[in-house]
Amino acid sequence: MNQKQMVGEKAAEFVEDGMIVGLGTGSTAYYFVEAVGRMVAEGMKIVGVTTSNATKLQAEKLGIPLKSVDEVDHIDLTVDGADEVAPDFSGIKGGGGALLFEKIVAERSNMVIWIVDESKLVDKLGAFPLPVEVVTYGADRLFEDFQEFDYEPSFRLNDDGSRYLTDGGHYIIDLHIFPIEDPVIFGRQLKLLTGVVEHGLFTNLTSKVLLASPQGVKELLA
Ligand code: 5RP
Repeated sequence: MNQKQMVGEKAAEFVEDGMIVGLGTGSTAYYFVEAVGRMVAEGMKIVGVTTSNATKLQAEKLGIPLKSVDEVDHIDLTVDGADEVAPDFSGIKGGGGALLFEKIVAERSNMVIWIVDESKLVDKLGAFPLPVEVVTYGADRLFEDFQEFDYEPSFRLNDDGSRYLTDGGHYIIDLHIFPIEDPVIFGRQLKLLTGVVEHGLFTNLTSKVLLASPQGVKELLA
């Protein structure tokens, strides 16, 4: 079993009958969703809230009952991957392009667990490009602003060179800034720019990190 599968399946142990569960996105969250699918097939009653079209498709195939975030008044637990995790459990997400829906779901969750391997642990955030989701109208002007701020922006592209569109119908501009000394303040500054929908800095949202390593899975404390 690979490390992503190990940690995804470990996280599924936190799911209890009757819960409303946020289902994350990415190659690690994939294994969590698969495990939840098996638990549902065995009779567990849960409702899933997905964080991307890709996860929705996966969950539907597995027969997991789903509701949208607008149809539930809370989410008990969300399990998701991350691209970088700092010692205070601030992190960067959005490598898979799902940051907006992931953050909407995380903010409505009573508990958020991240599932990662050791390669995701960092002292300071920013070596991984920081995704910023922007409305398509005016995106080139915003890109120029980011250039002027020396954020070294690049548009997220598809394999054919066209601009990547998120599930919300927006572009992603990846910023290259290292280190991000204060993710809370920097996140706030980004949100003030007109046209920015969301950014991939996740702060004060995650209560538990499950870390996979060749030695097994352990729980990290912030
Ligand atoms: C998607 C995400 C993912 O959770 C993040 O990119 C980690 O993915 P993976 O588990 O495939 O490394 O934020 O938007």
